[in-house]
Amino acid sequence: MGKDVLTLIDQRTEISYEVPIQNGTIRAMDLRKIKTGPEDFGLMTYDPAFMNTASCRSAITFIDGDKGILRYRGYPIEQLAEQCSFLEVAYLVLNGELPTAAQLHDFVNHVTHHTMLHETTKKFLEGFRYNAHPMGMFISTVAALSTVYPEARHVHDPEVRKLEIYRLIGKVPTIAAYTYRHSLGYPYVYPDNDLSYTENFMNMLWKMVEPKYQANKVLARALDILFILHADHEQNCSANAMRAVGSSLADPFVATAAAAAALSGPLHGGANEEVLKMLEVIGTKENIPAYIQRVKAGEVKLMGFGHRIYKNYDPRARIIKWAADRVFEVTGRNKKLDMALELERIALEDEYFIKRKLYPNVDFYSGIIYQAMGFNPEIFTVLFAIPRTAGWLAQWQEMLEDPEQKIARPRQVYIGSGVRDVVAIDKRNGKNSTASG
Ligand code: CMC
Repeated sequence: MGKDVLTLIDQRTEISYEVPIQNGTIRAMDLRKIKTGPEDFGLMTYDPAFMNTASCRSAITFIDGDKGILRYRGYPIEQLAEQCSFLEVAYLVLNGELPTAAQLHDFVNHVTHHTMLHETTKKFLEGFRYNAHPMGMFISTVAALSTVYPEARHVHDPEVRKLEIYRLIGKVPTIAAYTYRHSLGYPYVYPDNDLSYTENFMNMLWKMVEPKYQANKVLARALDILFILHADHEQNCSANAMRAVGSSLADPFVATAAAAAALSGPLHGGANEEVLKMLEVIGTKENIPAYIQRVKAGEVKLMGFGHRIYKNYDPRARIIKWAADRVFEVTGRNKKLDMALELERIALEDEYFIKRKLYPNVDFYSGIIYQAMGFNPEIFTVLFAIPRTAGWLAQWQEMLEDPEQKIARPRQVYIGSGVRDVVAIDKRNGKNSTASG
């Protein structure tokens, strides 16, 4: 085994450089010393969409995309989904260790006592149009919490951070449920502190006139498992947004809103809603081969397929399929599942998908369970955002405590005009800013 050093020769100058290798990476800043002369800025890396750039060192989530492995703080996702509750996993993701019984009791107690929304926040939600998309309402309302808790801006105070973490994890289900009730014109249901995290969420969604909401235990546990699967996923688009916005020392409410905004896009968390729309468009199993042809022709994407990191089956999709069977025992089988299974079968045998290593991701099956449980597709991405809030906050906290982190501010390669003079408005020719005539 040789040295952990990369030797580079700059052919422009014929100078050789030694760059240390650590954890399979070189530091981009080490390239800055590679210059053609004193006036040269130094070498940079160019990496649109961060295809090969580690932006941080993190101890939260481990993914081996080739093997299809996902672990939170070292624990396999399969074991966490089987043996833990969502709040236990949220504690783990945030604090690095699974809680003792006393620590969990304390954590649950704190989260439970921060589920209420200030009445002005409830009024704020009432201002949305009846057909506002739940994700838009969710993002805006999370951001609006920043106005209710102005002390949240003291992000370097660990006690303040802890309080805002309880508040955010406690309040996101309440906001989500209110967006749902708002779209139906139903009165809001206040949290019930006797219930578990997911049971209380179901209570706030679906309680009507009964004095006490009784959640179906199988469905509440299935939702809890889905929340565990969505709790964190290392440096994805929304975690990156959380870290980037948080790096300016913006408060955690607006940073979480920014992360949720990133999540809402159809290439990220918005894919779960798009999968259901796609299944509607396909309509029947017979139409699947024709739809696959359209995907291969580049006309449409197969939503819920493909991943930047996984080049194997997404382990979360496998657990979701298992949970679906438990849910369908209660709700009856969602017919869309048969279509999705057939779509998966055909895709996984097709050269196009095999060559590109495209497998179902977490969003392919989650919507099918959610729909069977009674959720509308519009709220699917909000259901993703609730548990991911724990992951975003863990990423945010880790970023703030990392002495190497600073305000996130990438470089660019400027490809615009060289310097030029402003031409008077009556002399511009409309094509470029040089004088006409
Ligand atoms: N359907 C058809 N072709 C695809 C798909 C797809 N879903 N995903 C990737 N490809 C093709 C892509 O066209 C490209 O082909 P070529 O090499 O011929 O140009 C190749 O596979 C590599 O894809 P890429 O776009 O370079 O990969 P990426 O890492 O930039 O994108 C992705 C990852 C998740 C955005 C993409 O796979 C995608 O758009 N999938 C559909 C949306 C989706 O399901 N998103 C949820 C992701 S998982 C959960 C989450 O993040 O929230």
